[in-house]
Amino acid sequence: MAAPLLDFTDKVVLITGGATGIGRATARAFARQGAKVVIGDVDERAAETVDLITADGGTAMYVRTDVTKNDEVENLVRTAVSTYGGLDVAFNNAGVLPPTGPLLDQTEADWDRTINVDLKGVFLALKHEIAYMAEHGGGSIINTASIAGVIADPGMSPYVAAKHGVIGLTKAAAIDYATAGVRVNALAPGLVATGMTKGWLDDPAMRDVVVAGSQLGRPAEPEEMTGMVLYLASPLASFATGGVYVVDGGQTAH
Ligand SMILES: NC(=O)c1ccc[n+]([C@@H]2O[C@H](COP(=O)([O-])OP(=O)(O)OC[C@H]3O[C@@H](n4cnc5c(N)ncnc54)[C@H](O)[C@@H]3O)[C@@H](O)[C@H]2O)c1
Repeated sequence: MAAPLLDFTDKVVLITGGATGIGRATARAFARQGAKVVIGDVDERAAETVDLITADGGTAMYVRTDVTKNDEVENLVRTAVSTYGGLDVAFNNAGVLPPTGPLLDQTEADWDRTINVDLKGVFLALKHEIAYMAEHGGGSIINTASIAGVIADPGMSPYVAAKHGVIGLTKAAAIDYATAGVRVNALAPGLVATGMTKGWLDDPAMRDVVVAGSQLGRPAEPEEMTGMVLYLASPLASFATGGVYVVDGGQTAH
């Protein structure tokens, strides 16, 4: 009989930004593979994600967490450990997208918010997750970057800067904690149909522009990001650390 390669039975998986989109799909995928899932988000729809998981027979909880607040991120990690007995995997996925426009149209407030959530939020999560994992036998962390962390798409300079930063932070953390058994990798999605991109995809002219980048001629569904995350979290990826894993329908292939 084939071995169950993506078995997360009794593993504790922390996910930020799990209320909707990629985070929700990934939370459900981990729970289906037996994980106990802890979601940190500012959006109360995280409770719906928990309900969906519970209805599937899985185990999950929601801890209201603003990833830009150090004490709230510390509480999220502490609650995961105290409730489910450890922390094996973290998916640092919470993010925001500033209004689209050239750099001169980007405000200081847009910059601060984007850098705070998308970059500082990952830094704070890494600090608390690694502090626990390094002392308890290691773990696997996946940070959601973007292809905007690899190339510069037009009209989103704060986001491009933040996501390039996430990739740098991923590499730096991977190097610092490899010998402690903590693997840190980045997921770089292309266009995914979520609340974040709904405004683009609902506007026919804009949809044509953004979908044109995908060689598959369509955006991804959030579920199409989950396989890479579960793989990176699993022992199948035991030699993978400090890497950037692009899942973009071929957008950056040419
Ligand atoms: N949708 C895409 O095309 C795409 C492409 C590349 C990367 N990404 C990245 O994927 C990740 C998930 O985005 P999504 O597309 O699923 O969009 P989404 O808007 O559905 O999910 C983002 C989640 O982050 C949460 N969040 C925002 N600010 C937060 C904060 N301060 N504290 C805690 N949670 C917060 C939101 O409430 C939401 O649940 C983001 O990091 C995004 O930048 C998305």
